[in-house]
Amino acid sequence: MTVKALYPGTFDPPTNGHVDLIMRGARLFSHLTVAVLNNPGKNPLFNVEERVEMLREVTSSLDNVSVATFNGLMVEFARREGASAVLRGIRAISDYEYEFQMALMNRRLAPEIETVFLQPAGRYSFISSRMLKEVFSFGGEVTGLVPPNVLKRLRARMNNG
Ligand SMILES: Nc1ncnc2c1ncn2[C@@H]1O[C@H](COP(=O)(O)OP(=O)(O)O)[C@@H](O)[C@H]1O
Ligand SMILES: [Mg+2]
Repeated sequence: MTVKALYPGTFDPPTNGHVDLIMRGARLFSHLTVAVLNNPGKNPLFNVEERVEMLREVTSSLDNVSVATFNGLMVEFARREGASAVLRGIRAISDYEYEFQMALMNRRLAPEIETVFLQPAGRYSFISSRMLKEVFSFGGEVTGLVPPNVLKRLRARMNNG
């Protein structure tokens, strides 16, 4: 049996934690679509096109991974993609409360789709895009927390205001 999976998220910006999860998902599923939520209301640092570009650069060597954008209901997009699994990351128990609610709501909306949770390597389990942006904006060192292409874009963005 082959299983296609969707890995949805904001990815503003993608971190090494996201990349760790993508690599695990690519090994587990026949195809993994990284799905960037197009939600301008969230006032992101990087627009959706930039986030897609960064993710495409990072995943270019992975044959069974593609990158797409979506808006609206995630499970509707999963159905359109032919995905029967949704991949989400659990860093710590604190993630679980919200992820649990979302997984059960999504199951109600689309009972044929299963949410699968994976843990990143321990060294990535404390990384969040939000805290990364905060640390970086105050001049903190973030090398090793994001892929090199993301670090470059962060630096360019901060230098140009
Ligand atoms: N450091 C990390 N390690 C593993 N998974 C992560 C990490 N950071 C975020 N994730 C997971 O990646 C997914 C997308 O996260 P994120 O980009 O913050 O979008 P969302 O707005 O959906 O939370 C979520 O399942 C989140 O738990
Ligand atoms: Mg998040």
